Amino acid sequence: MSRPRTTPGPVPSAPRNAPDTPRSAPRDGLGTGPGSSGDARDGGARDHAPWTAFGSDLHLDLTGRRAAGAGLRAALEDALREAVQDGRLAPGTRLPSSRALGEDLGIARNTVVEAYGQLTAEGWLGARPGSGTTVAERAAPRPAGRPAAVRADRRPTGRHDLLAGRPDLSLFPRSAWLASARRALAVAPHDAFDYGSPLGRIELRRALSDYLARVRGVRTDPDRLLVCAGFGQGLGLLAAALRGRGAGRIAVEGYGLPPQREVLRAAGLDLAPLPLDSHGARTDLLDGPGGGGGGADRLGAVLLTPAHQFPTGAALAADRRAAAVRWARERDGYVIEDDYDGEFRYDRQPLGAMQALDPDRVVYGGTAAKSLAPGLRLAWLALPDELVEPVARLKALADTMSPVTDQLTFAELITSGRYDRHVRRCRLHYRRRRDLLVTALAERAPQVRVTGIAAGLHAVLQLPPGSRPEAELLERARAAGLVLTGLDWYRAGPDAERALGLPAPENRSGAAPDTAPNAAPALVVGYATPPDHAFPAALDALCGILRES
Ligand SMILES: Cc1ncc(COP(=O)(O)O)c(C=O)c1O
Repeated sequence: MSRPRTTPGPVPSAPRNAPDTPRSAPRDGLGTGPGSSGDARDGGARDHAPWTAFGSDLHLDLTGRRAAGAGLRAALEDALREAVQDGRLAPGTRLPSSRALGEDLGIARNTVVEAYGQLTAEGWLGARPGSGTTVAERAAPRPAGRPAAVRADRRPTGRHDLLAGRPDLSLFPRSAWLASARRALAVAPHDAFDYGSPLGRIELRRALSDYLARVRGVRTDPDRLLVCAGFGQGLGLLAAALRGRGAGRIAVEGYGLPPQREVLRAAGLDLAPLPLDSHGARTDLLDGPGGGGGGADRLGAVLLTPAHQFPTGAALAADRRAAAVRWARERDGYVIEDDYDGEFRYDRQPLGAMQALDPDRVVYGGTAAKSLAPGLRLAWLALPDELVEPVARLKALADTMSPVTDQLTFAELITSGRYDRHVRRCRLHYRRRRDLLVTALAERAPQVRVTGIAAGLHAVLQLPPGSRPEAELLERARAAGLVLTGLDWYRAGPDAERALGLPAPENRSGAAPDTAPNAAPALVVGYATPPDHAFPAALDALCGILRES
């Protein structure tokens, strides 16, 4: 058997009924049991073996197996085998003595001796003179493959990360956040740490209400704001609330974030994609033949990114905004405004939030994912009166409320002015990045048109018709160590236009014409993502593959 693992195991208190269980006296004053001090009879070879003193610690269920007709010994063997197999008993774990286990389980010591013997013969356990019985080092078969990948695990990796959707994480304002956390925790009342309103901490809702009015023109108040774990969660809550009110479908932009569409579908809504053009989503079609629908088919809402269409970058034109709000009023629907990067506008006047047009019909959603970090999982919804109660009820069901300490810290960050300073610094940083990208492409890949860059953290690079197909370009990008996506990845599906009763598209007519003419390839580049030191190399690699496109 190979050396026991060095991870200290659970430290037992003095084993009462285990005369043949290794006992030890702590030698170094740090450990209190065999897991940390070594054993006089063993010269320390198993000093750090995970250690199980009592049968009851093993959580062996014999009764179920006995009830199913297994004999005592077979039931014990089975239960031990299963514990090793599913990893509860890690390789190297020392098992209780046969006497201790027998006493704990209320069975004869001999039965345990026989079961240990059988499992040792099968290779699950090992025995060494003086060491007692341990789980064999390679006893636990590795599970086939990996567990189902979670979203983050599915992220492709490469040397140059230009995947759109994330900020430069090296800009996270660690000192400002720490200072705000210190201050917020120092002044928080005791009851701040209790269960609280599913809407979130009042300090943050007050701070957000003022902040959003000032920088985005949002018309709300603390009683209508809900703090959630990312806009993704807020969207799921809204979708479930709308479903609960009888909506069967939701209109989405013809190109958008695929995980958001998954969230909507998971809530039971069908999607009705709206075509895009250079003025944003065709909200005028909401009133068309496919836009109504009654019964189970009822179109209950439209999800839009009005400030900066994701990913094509168009700003939703004033008449399109008005058309969406008109539709919502007339059809008892809602507009969900995803203001995911509203803070980052470079060249033109900031476009105020669409929510101000009608706070009773437009839900405003914002997030700290771009301005601070996605890992914070901090976002907010400004809700119409009618949706406050149903959405808050669903939030309470989902996770009671968002964690308090980050809410208090974020509230302090805002009210102290540190958040404004941080956002201003980031805006300059990303604007410089964008300018570097535009300049490099103009010099080294002049055939590429860069669009969608008046705001945000990403750009769309359109290649001329006749270029290599998008899939081939992406393959070359991958080979060059670049992590990025093509525009097609964001497409809402082949039925984008049909869903609202339009003729089937001949080409990529669901996108803005100036972003994807004649299905010419287009890449979506997150220029904010790499830290400063990695950006020049990423830019070089990008220009390299585009030069040969
Ligand atoms: C279009 C869009 N909306 C919203 C978000 C933010 O989502 P969340 O707050 O769940 O991280 C992102 C982040 O990538 C996004 O790209």
